[in-house]
Amino acid sequence: MSTFPPLKNNLLLRAARGLHTERTPVWMMRQAGRYLPEYRALRAEDAFFDVVRTPELAAEVTLQPLERFPLDAAIIFSDILVVPQVMGLTVEMIKGKGPHFPDPLRSPQDLKRLRTPDIKSDLGYVLEALTLTRHRLDGRAPLIGFVGAPWTLMAYMIEGGGSKTFSKAKTWLFGLPEAAHALLGQITDVLCQFLSAQIEAGAQTVQVFDSWAGLLSPAVFQAFALPYLNRIAFYLQENHPEVPRIVFAKGAHYALPALAATDFDVIGLDWTMDPRKARRLVGAQAALQGNLDPSTLYAAPEQIHDAVHEMLDAFGPVGHIANLGHGMHPDHDPEHARAFVEAVQGYSHAFASVS
Ligand code: CP3
Repeated sequence: MSTFPPLKNNLLLRAARGLHTERTPVWMMRQAGRYLPEYRALRAEDAFFDVVRTPELAAEVTLQPLERFPLDAAIIFSDILVVPQVMGLTVEMIKGKGPHFPDPLRSPQDLKRLRTPDIKSDLGYVLEALTLTRHRLDGRAPLIGFVGAPWTLMAYMIEGGGSKTFSKAKTWLFGLPEAAHALLGQITDVLCQFLSAQIEAGAQTVQVFDSWAGLLSPAVFQAFALPYLNRIAFYLQENHPEVPRIVFAKGAHYALPALAATDFDVIGLDWTMDPRKARRLVGAQAALQGNLDPSTLYAAPEQIHDAVHEMLDAFGPVGHIANLGHGMHPDHDPEHARAFVEAVQGYSHAFASVS
């Protein structure tokens, strides 16, 4: 393992542990992406997955938002769908439409098509990108690795792309539960290995994105999502206890107490969740991350400041990582992202010192 430059800003790692910080750390989901002209310029030359697969380019894109804004974390430029790819499914990124699987899993028979990847060689490009980015960051901020959650990946692998209802994937949950568990178990094994390898390659914290958790009922989440999230958090706790673990189960209001009881250190909230209520449900068991409505960034900078102050008051100064409640939109103005970051850093500084 290479020696990395010392970390000069560990606010996020401390907040993730519920420790006191001199101000609230801040980053933005999808902080590297199409709202940045420098990203669009680079993407004009190369296909999305070509950027992801070229460590030099992935590192460059990861650092783009940090060159502009004083962010407290970098998130590696990649995608949750690299995992279905290395398990044997073709995934294309279609301009203006999003991901498309030309040959998704159609029946339990298709599970035979899945392969067990060799993480170090099949996903070596993500690991190399992490190592390179960690060096280039030069300790400015911690580097976040990530994966999609088992249920969210299963949903894409069966549906073949985005969907309003994910009815095909839900057909497996309700009609083919054994096949669903077999698939979820197989995905989980890969995710444990992949996250572990990301940490060894330089990730200083990791986030699991369960983007479609909100489509499940509490009972179905309990049966098909939670056990696998639990397994991932437990595996990481056993193997890399020093690395904080973040889970973001979008839309899963009902799941907050259950997630608090897992080995995740931080629970991400989307913008429909009330921070005070979430804090009551989670107690001191986890830090919270979030949760400004990304659409707030369509407002004028003064209004963004007001909304951020309200958000910071609601979370309080301890055990909070400021973020949006979901990703940046491609039509956001980068200057409004700056207003968000500056509002968090300016206000929380004053606020932590009086509390
Ligand atoms: O800056 C970052 O946050 C890091 C990079 C990142 C991307 N995807 C890059 C990306 C991360 C963390 C993701 C995660 C991801 N990918 C999720 C979970 C987060 C969420 O949004 O709920 C999901 C569901 C995906 C799957 C995915 N990838 C979709 C649905 C799309 C199309 C929609 C869209 O935003 O375009 C992608 C493509 C994608 N992933 C882009 C980027 C920057 C845009 C592709 C392009 O450049 O044309």
